[in-house]
Amino acid sequence: MSKYSHEIQRRRTFAIISHPDAGKTTITEQLLLLGGVIQEAGEVKGKKGAKAAKSDWMKMEQERGVSISSSVMQFDYNGLRINWLDTPGHKDFGEDTYRTLHATDCAAMLIDAAKGVESQTRKLYEVCRLRKMPIFTFANKMDREGKSPLDLIDDVENTLHMACYPVTWPIGMGDRFKGLYHRLKKKFYAFEKGTRGMAKVLDVAGPDDAILRDFVEADLHAQFLEELELLEGILPPLDTADFLSGKMTFMTFGSAKHNWGVDLFLDLFTQYAPPPQGRKLDTGEITPEDPAFSGFIFKIQANMDKRHRDRIAYIRVCSGRFERGMKVKHMRLGRELRLNYANQLMGQERNTVEEAFAGDIVGINDTGNFKIGDTVTAGVDVVFRDIPRFSPEHFARISVGDALKRKQLEKGLQQLVDEGTIQKFYDPAVGWQLPILGVVGILQFEVLLYRLEDEYGVKGKMEMLPYKVARWLTDLEGRPHREKLKGVATVLHDADDLPVLLCDAEWALQSLEKQNPEVIFHFTSQG
Ligand code: G4P
Repeated sequence: MSKYSHEIQRRRTFAIISHPDAGKTTITEQLLLLGGVIQEAGEVKGKKGAKAAKSDWMKMEQERGVSISSSVMQFDYNGLRINWLDTPGHKDFGEDTYRTLHATDCAAMLIDAAKGVESQTRKLYEVCRLRKMPIFTFANKMDREGKSPLDLIDDVENTLHMACYPVTWPIGMGDRFKGLYHRLKKKFYAFEKGTRGMAKVLDVAGPDDAILRDFVEADLHAQFLEELELLEGILPPLDTADFLSGKMTFMTFGSAKHNWGVDLFLDLFTQYAPPPQGRKLDTGEITPEDPAFSGFIFKIQANMDKRHRDRIAYIRVCSGRFERGMKVKHMRLGRELRLNYANQLMGQERNTVEEAFAGDIVGINDTGNFKIGDTVTAGVDVVFRDIPRFSPEHFARISVGDALKRKQLEKGLQQLVDEGTIQKFYDPAVGWQLPILGVVGILQFEVLLYRLEDEYGVKGKMEMLPYKVARWLTDLEGRPHREKLKGVATVLHDADDLPVLLCDAEWALQSLEKQNPEVIFHFTSQG
């Protein structure tokens, strides 16, 4: 146990995953109200007016002031210090979102009760699954008619192959929504519109208590009893180990818009979310209690103001205590750096951070020293296992008419690779000239062209390529597979010289997988 144990053990770090429009902005606002970060509803949603303009990169650039300041927040709740990390809600979210999840210890999954698990949620869930991350599920919009709660559970279980443990169970939905029965607390929380989420709480001996019978209409109560009975019959007993290893998700219901059940959700979170977890190193693991400070960079945000080339590098503190101005070793560069100008958003204030502990996120002003995945440490030399790169979904080549500008193009591309905005692939037979670029969200290409011109004075010409998926190739033992694949295939190298297959269709990928049973096709650079 380190002497900072108390501080470390009260840290909780999470992000919300959801499909656009499921209500992430709305629930975030309610959570921040509960955490005292904002005082009035509307402060977060205020920035939503700009939503329609999000495909316009010029405007996005102007808005980045907002997104920078809101990308990490801290608040205290129930004695815990909660780090909340935003994940961009735009449908063209990039790898940024994937990497943000890498810096958290658990995730909250928000689903629209009428729609169930949607495509973006599925993708984000895959990233959580890779890390066996614990997940809380909130079924939102219960004030509207939607899927039955049993169907929702079925949906989560069948789509994500994760068991559900509903902690609350709704009585009614839409206009007839009455409230939530808390199965563990044996209480009924009755909600009404217009009460800002203030519940009337009924202490009941169980679901069949006369108090509850008297409170809700007979048909709704009968249906509730029937559903609960069915549920009790099929649910395994509560096993927190299954939750912590991501095999089971705690589920609860509510409406973010009416603030129904959001506090129950936060209570559930504070009860079960794990404190900072150990992190894998290239060799072994480091625990949060390790007394020496260590951390890794998971996000780099370019500065809005192009006159200042500096950027903010976000460090997830993995062990020990961070102190402003401390000297650390930058493992990749093999030299010492002083971490001055550290920022953290606490409440509404952007504060200079004097100290931080394992689980916290610190934003460092960076003049170009950092790359995604870099390790910094104040103790013995350690290197965190690199953050995986994920399969891009859009590919292109960029060229410049003016040969004199090629150097600038290369410089700009490298900077964006470092920031993790794009990935570079190349054909070993041709070399690094004319690399193929890959992005997860198509919007990143817009960003790329804009920034190349704005920051590097390069007007690039983009040629879209037909590829849709990338797969990292290894043999059955996990070693890079460098032999030729059977079948017609484009195999390139990534920035680390690992072999990567590019395919223009899922079926083509499946056919290659069948023809090459001795090869594993990985969705990420780390398998
Ligand atoms: P997002 O960040 O996940 O994209 O979703 P956001 O919170 O912006 O919510 C998307 C829409 O869903 C919004 O409606 C929002 O009001 C609505 N919504 C969120 N939670 C609930 C809920 O519990 N019940 C109902 N009925 N609706 C909900 P909008 O029409 O796009 O915007 P607004 O004019 O209502 O703000």
